[in-house]
Amino acid sequence: MANCIVHVTFFLLTCYCLSAASVPQNAHTAGLGQLGVNWGTMTSHPINPTIIVDMLRANGIRKVKLFDANPWTMTALGGTHIETMVAIPNDQLSQISTDYNYAKKWISNNITRYYYDHKVKIRYVAVGNEPFLKSYNNLYINSTFPALRNIQKALDEAGLGTVIKATVPLNADVYNSPNNNPVPSAGEFRVDIRQIMHKIVHYLNHTGAPFVVNIYPFLSLYQNPHFPIDFAFFNGTNKPIIDKGVKYTNVFDANFDMLVWSLKKAGVPNLKIIVGEVGWPTDGDKNANIQNARRFYDGFLRKIANKTGTPKRPGGMEVYLFGLIDENQKSILPGNFERNWGLFTYDGRPKFAMDLTGTGKDQYLVGAKGVEHLPAQWCVSKKEAEERYYELSNSINYACQMTDCTALGYNSSCNGLSLLGNASYAFNMYFQMHDQDVRACNFNGLAIITEENPSTDKCLFPVQIISESQRKEAGVYGVPLLVLLISLLYHLLV
Ligand SMILES: *[C@@H]1O[C@H](CO)[C@@H](O)[C@H](O)[C@H]1NC(C)=O
Ligand SMILES: *[C@@H]1O[C@H](CO)[C@@H](O)[C@H](O)[C@H]1NC(C)=O
Ligand SMILES: *[C@@H]1O[C@H](CO)[C@@H](O)[C@H](O)[C@H]1NC(C)=O
Ligand SMILES: *[C@@H]1O[C@H](CO)[C@@H](O)[C@H](O)[C@H]1NC(C)=O
Ligand SMILES: *[C@@H]1O[C@H](CO)[C@@H](O)[C@H](O)[C@H]1NC(C)=O
Ligand SMILES: *[C@@H]1O[C@H](CO)[C@@H](O)[C@H](O)[C@H]1NC(C)=O
Ligand SMILES: *[C@@H]1O[C@H](CO)[C@@H](O)[C@H](O)[C@H]1NC(C)=O
Repeated sequence: MANCIVHVTFFLLTCYCLSAASVPQNAHTAGLGQLGVNWGTMTSHPINPTIIVDMLRANGIRKVKLFDANPWTMTALGGTHIETMVAIPNDQLSQISTDYNYAKKWISNNITRYYYDHKVKIRYVAVGNEPFLKSYNNLYINSTFPALRNIQKALDEAGLGTVIKATVPLNADVYNSPNNNPVPSAGEFRVDIRQIMHKIVHYLNHTGAPFVVNIYPFLSLYQNPHFPIDFAFFNGTNKPIIDKGVKYTNVFDANFDMLVWSLKKAGVPNLKIIVGEVGWPTDGDKNANIQNARRFYDGFLRKIANKTGTPKRPGGMEVYLFGLIDENQKSILPGNFERNWGLFTYDGRPKFAMDLTGTGKDQYLVGAKGVEHLPAQWCVSKKEAEERYYELSNSINYACQMTDCTALGYNSSCNGLSLLGNASYAFNMYFQMHDQDVRACNFNGLAIITEENPSTDKCLFPVQIISESQRKEAGVYGVPLLVLLISLLYHLLV
């Protein structure tokens, strides 16, 4: 037991950096009111936001959290009644903190306009994203609180302050408990930021805004090989933590209550808490797979639907799942799993059975409708390429640097391929990334285009989708149609 507590210490203290993603449609989704999703957009081939919004509605999801105020996304949310948390990226905090006129402009351009003209149901403005992560080395330490105040003031001045609240999504690394007493009740805000955290939480309490925290049981497991695996899930453990007579059987509750205690010690015991990010990745690590993700969500969604809450905060909980879609352009500095957090694949297909209403039904979410793929063709390595080992290795490295090869890694979905298999995977990713441009499937004659699908049950060789951003910019609608018309005319005339 003592031994277990030591391990428990580690995960409760754990800090990690990450991140950085309506009206009820049918009766069975009625219980989803408190459930939202993070809609991140760091992908090379974005799905049309209108298709995404339709997908959210088809699944009864009525809340989204964004990481910016992208006009395309915002416009798509117009008139839908989906509650939206809009975000200000960290790199704007400095200017917003020192220049109130800029803060006003930000609100007017990115909030007021969408709220009134487009009827986007904006509820929160997230000022920065996890700005106090230890890995940022205090970069945003002086700008975050002034930026928060300027944004709320600008909202108030715009007449929206009672409807829209400014807050700061924070990682669970802003609080911890001492090594020698790693229980929730010993929790307090991190000593190096305690003063500023106390100011922020009093301000949030004053404005009526919630505290937004990101909690990742997966990362507790990822970072600590001794972490008792059952403690990351919700169906019991033989190594619970006992804290002042309260029994904790999962790290999510323990971590959440550590925040509750920290708030109490800061003098705001009743501050509302929202979980801004929570989820489980499906590839890129030995614990990041479909079985574990399914187990995690199954337990978590039952808990949310049941309004169990935590020992210190029983009752309903507002949570945003992370994330909606896999994002192939996220940094993999935190780990190879980082691009694989989606409930849906890159092309909008649900990955596993999941019942958002928390009744454990064995059903899939409704996928994206109307996503168009490029032709069914792949780029693979030629058999004779094996003899050119040096060139082949270099080409794999090059292709992988330019695209996403996280599936090839240890204990990932495409691990264990041969050298030629690795090459095919890398070449195909590169080819698809470049919209199947024939020039992207050459690699000095090592590669060839095929219509034979190299995928296996376990390892998917994807075919990319027609990127909506390209469609918009280059006019996949416009130019080819014109070409078609001209050639038609030509044929008619000749
Ligand atoms: C929001 O408003 C600011 C200030 O007007 C502007 O610089 C920024 O580009 C706008 N859009 C987004 C997506 O942040
Ligand atoms: C924040 O302010 C403190 C006190 O004025 C100063 O010492 C520190 O260098 C500042 N940090 C940053 C990152 O600007
Ligand atoms: C926090 O907000 C509540 C509700 O508005 C209020 O009753 C309470 O006094 C506030 N606490 C502090 C410490 O300001
Ligand atoms: C929880 O469920 C998983 C499978 O869903 C099972 O493998 C595990 O043994 C269960 N743990 C407990 C403590 O019941
Ligand atoms: C549901 O809530 C009840 C009472 O709050 C509790 O006893 C039960 O264990 C909960 N079930 C789940 C699956 O969380
Ligand atoms: C990880 O990969 C090794 C080697 O392929 C394999 O023996 C092991 O079972 C894998 N573990 C998991 C959890 O997938
Ligand atoms: C394939 O690529 C993975 C990931 O880079 C690597 O670990 C593995 O050793 C490679 N396999 C071969 C046979 O080169």
